[in-house]
Amino acid sequence: MDNQIIQTLKQRVNIVDVVRRYVALRPASGRQVGLCPFHQEKTASFSVNEAEGFYYCFGCQAGGDVLDFYMRINGLEFKDALTQLAEEAGIELKEFRPDPQFDERQKLKKVCLDMHAQAQDYYRRNLDQVTGDAARSYLRKRGASPEIVVGFGLGASPEDWHGLMNHLVGRGFTPEQGVVAGLLSKNEKGKIYDRFRGRLIFPIQNISGQVIAFGGRIITEGEPKYLNSSDTPIYKKGEHLYGLHQARQAMTRSKRAILTEGYMDVLSLAQFGYADSCGVLGTALTQDQVKRLAGFCSRIDLIFDGDGAGRKAGLRSAEMILHQGVACRVLLMPEGEDVDSLLHKQGRDGLEACFEQAADGLDYCLATVRKDFAPREIVAWATGFLGHLSDNALRAYYLPRLADGLGLSEEDLRRQGGQQGGGSYAGGAGRQDARKAAQQHVKTRRSVGSDEANDRKFIEFSIQYPDYIPHLAKRGLWNVLSTDWGRTLWQRLSLERFNDVAATLGEDDAKMWRNAIEKHPQLTGEELADHWESLCTWIDKQHKEVRRKELMQSLAELSLAGDVEEVKKVQLAIQELNAPSREEE
Ligand code: UTP
Ligand code: MN
Repeated sequence: MDNQIIQTLKQRVNIVDVVRRYVALRPASGRQVGLCPFHQEKTASFSVNEAEGFYYCFGCQAGGDVLDFYMRINGLEFKDALTQLAEEAGIELKEFRPDPQFDERQKLKKVCLDMHAQAQDYYRRNLDQVTGDAARSYLRKRGASPEIVVGFGLGASPEDWHGLMNHLVGRGFTPEQGVVAGLLSKNEKGKIYDRFRGRLIFPIQNISGQVIAFGGRIITEGEPKYLNSSDTPIYKKGEHLYGLHQARQAMTRSKRAILTEGYMDVLSLAQFGYADSCGVLGTALTQDQVKRLAGFCSRIDLIFDGDGAGRKAGLRSAEMILHQGVACRVLLMPEGEDVDSLLHKQGRDGLEACFEQAADGLDYCLATVRKDFAPREIVAWATGFLGHLSDNALRAYYLPRLADGLGLSEEDLRRQGGQQGGGSYAGGAGRQDARKAAQQHVKTRRSVGSDEANDRKFIEFSIQYPDYIPHLAKRGLWNVLSTDWGRTLWQRLSLERFNDVAATLGEDDAKMWRNAIEKHPQLTGEELADHWESLCTWIDKQHKEVRRKELMQSLAELSLAGDVEEVKKVQLAIQELNAPSREEE
């Protein structure tokens, strides 16, 4: 199945087109050559063979087909790379349940992208016209250079309720389509109007440079200061990073990403020569964003305000980055400054001074935890941290460092949770309070009974229907597997190429694998849908059960400790859990 898709993909996608988005190529004796994006070099040793469909670097020996390249440059897992590249090539992946709306949704996405391209054009042109006077002088006041304004495609939305709407209608779109694309808004009376008015416009691009959303800063006065696109068929908050399209090549060279909070901060960083900078776009950092960055760099330098909120956000973000095995540093800005203001006042020297004082990410976490957490919470935080690590080597690396840094015994920490396998596939704690996540983690592990038959059922299903692996991962199968055997195999199935797993199994597992293939029930259509449904129901129920046990356990502990306030909260949570949810009606 995968193989078929890969073959079709290679036929339909031109490797040179894909590579060219990331590397400047020039023809040389039948090949295309350029500077290798995977290592630092001054002479071009990277070449793409269009006819044969592969790339190779004589400098660092990186090489492979278009899929390999796409995975590597975007830091994607095999399955995700396959899905995204196939989508770009318009190849329908039947890896989901037969989806009658697939074509419709593809079309809708295309319409949204086209409208964004039109809107981008409109905003950009406005910036050069009389309607853009205020935006232009605002940019001048903020000290943005013309190169930056062009490089980031900045624009202006005039004080006009129907300017963009008329522009879009003139190009064959309907106002309703504009609403779906998030470019126009609709009031209760059904009147449709421009969402962005009187704002400086920042286009938000995906990694290939397509505009997928906008941010708009108010120029005169008014609320909110920044207005961002809401979620649409082509944009989901927390998935993208502002400026990553412009920064990615610099990042692959420097192996570092500077991550900041504001649009203007990204612009100023780029203007002052920090080309490897991007921004989080008005939300807390997400796991998706970290994964995206991890594909380009091995260290992330986080910049936060020096206030209390900034320090807390720093802890959460640093943890999340370390969990992925990426190094990080935390830079706190001086009181009352952000990167943008600092750079304009003190130039690179000012920021370099902050870099010099930057804390190592792990040290920063440890210091913050030591300072802000109670002893019981410290232990929970440490076990939670270890539990979230994505592999055992990382766990071995961090265990003594955590123990040492927090004054805990390594032995205790190991027993408490340091030895448990793997991290969470459901995206981990995300923005949840780290402490809660940590406690949850410890208890989850304790409360899941060992049920080998169930683990086996899911592993066999994954072998028989590998297209469902990403869906099982999304559903959080990891958290409800109960044996080491099941977890280890599942980890491999969800992270490695299917055929690689099959080719490198131990004797017993190889037998199990053959067996699963031999007794393949070959379900299709309705039957397969029903079976899948029942698996999902089981997973969901199991999640609930785990959660219930956790809560009961906390209840017991809190009652013993006499923490009345917390007891009440937990009781409420248990009630909520027991109430039938809407899906179950
Ligand atoms: P800040 O309020 O720190 O603003 O918000 P800033 O980036 O320094 O902006 P300037 O310098 O006053 O122009 C940081 C980021 O939070 C998001 C934006 O992404 C902003 O850049 N934000 C802020 C919003 O999404 N909405 C808001 O109303 C405010
Ligand atoms: Mn600012």
